[in-house]
Amino acid sequence: MMTDKTNSKESQIWGGRFSQGPAAIMEEINASIDIDRRLWREDIAGSRAHSDMLSAAGIISSADNQAIQNGLDEIAGEIERDEFTFSKALEDIHMNIEARLKEIIGEPAGRLHTARSRNDQVATDFRIWVREACEQAEASLKLLMASLAKKARDNADAVMPGFTHLQTAQPVTFGHHLLAYVEMFSRDAARFSDARARMNECPLGAAALAGTSFPIDRDATAAALGFERPCANSLDAVSARDFALEALSAATIAATHLSRLAEEMVLWTSPHFDFVRLSDSFSTGSSIMPQKRNPDAAELVRAKAGRIIASLTNLAVVMKGLPLAYSKDMQEDKAATFEGFDALALALAAMAGMIGDLTPNRAAMKAAAGRSYATATDLADWLVRALNMPFREAHHVTGAVVAVAEKSGLDLEALDLKEMQKIEPRITDDVFSVLSVDASAASRTSYGGAAPANVKRQANRWIAALSKET
Ligand code: ARG
Repeated sequence: MMTDKTNSKESQIWGGRFSQGPAAIMEEINASIDIDRRLWREDIAGSRAHSDMLSAAGIISSADNQAIQNGLDEIAGEIERDEFTFSKALEDIHMNIEARLKEIIGEPAGRLHTARSRNDQVATDFRIWVREACEQAEASLKLLMASLAKKARDNADAVMPGFTHLQTAQPVTFGHHLLAYVEMFSRDAARFSDARARMNECPLGAAALAGTSFPIDRDATAAALGFERPCANSLDAVSARDFALEALSAATIAATHLSRLAEEMVLWTSPHFDFVRLSDSFSTGSSIMPQKRNPDAAELVRAKAGRIIASLTNLAVVMKGLPLAYSKDMQEDKAATFEGFDALALALAAMAGMIGDLTPNRAAMKAAAGRSYATATDLADWLVRALNMPFREAHHVTGAVVAVAEKSGLDLEALDLKEMQKIEPRITDDVFSVLSVDASAASRTSYGGAAPANVKRQANRWIAALSKET
């Protein structure tokens, strides 16, 4: 690209001091309109509130305010109807809208920027956007939770193997497993709501960095834009981006949960597990191997986590070295944040779709739970209860029983009582009451445990709580 090419249109923006426009490469690196045009609604809302306040405070005339409001109306219509021409030479959304306002209403447009700077303007627009993104993420998480809780209720008694180290550990139920994710997503939703509450202070009126000498009413603009209060320090108001970092942190944590669930979907839909089937609408075929049903949506949710985590890292690295107050580096905050939240919205929607769509294969899950001696702990617990054996010794005896079962290729349930008695003569017939996977799962009645009765209760509690909110 040529670096000595100038753009004479640009010099008009800065007025007196600049006699020449910027080099083409300068315009290229400086312009953010392709990214921040998404903020047009927030920008117009901010300008409306500011103009109303200026007029109420007697800083501009009410006729000028009226002209500004009408002009902004017209611009909103143009953008909505896709008739607005966004210009790179005008850098960003703020200048694009202000320039168009001037074309439409003339002189009063120049009064809108009184007691305001693009620094507090962008900080305000962006906060409103991130606040809304947090609300949407919270709402989508709750829809996903409701979908999981319903599947959990319907599968409260579907026994499946629980794993540690991805080795069969003890029987649990599919419902219990799904409710584990409901707990995680509920904390994610709470993190978005906490972040929203903390960010809800209005930067508008901080002006460039120091505040203004005009008698503005920051409480009025804060209230008009739905903020709890104005930011108390003008330097902080224009410099802070921790609200976006916090929102992206919440998104990052939610993404790790989504990705873990996605990974489980990939495993469960594999023919080697065969725990879950996704319908054709959430599976893809292979162009060469006709037998395949690939869980692409789950894989992409897993991959989207990469983007979301990257967006947090991106913004944290942009911010970490910046002295107060505004630096142009901060313009990059939006690309990172938009990308992270776009990926999150997609991942949440795709996961909710998959959860609603999936059909568990109860028979396969139960059979898998029965393999690999998943009820060995139940045998050890029986020895403790029935024979008053210390648990460590019971663990040892059970290990010997498992070794015998393994050698003869039998499940614990199928093992002859005599074989067990060779190891521990006091074992009676009663031991078989604890060796089935159903009995094992049903016995986990401690609070938070996997017993179907617990799962049903917890699932219903979530369904009721979530239906109240949505
Ligand atoms: N487009 C800019 C941004 O997003 C707006 C603020 C510009 N402020 C300035 N002092 N150059 O950060």
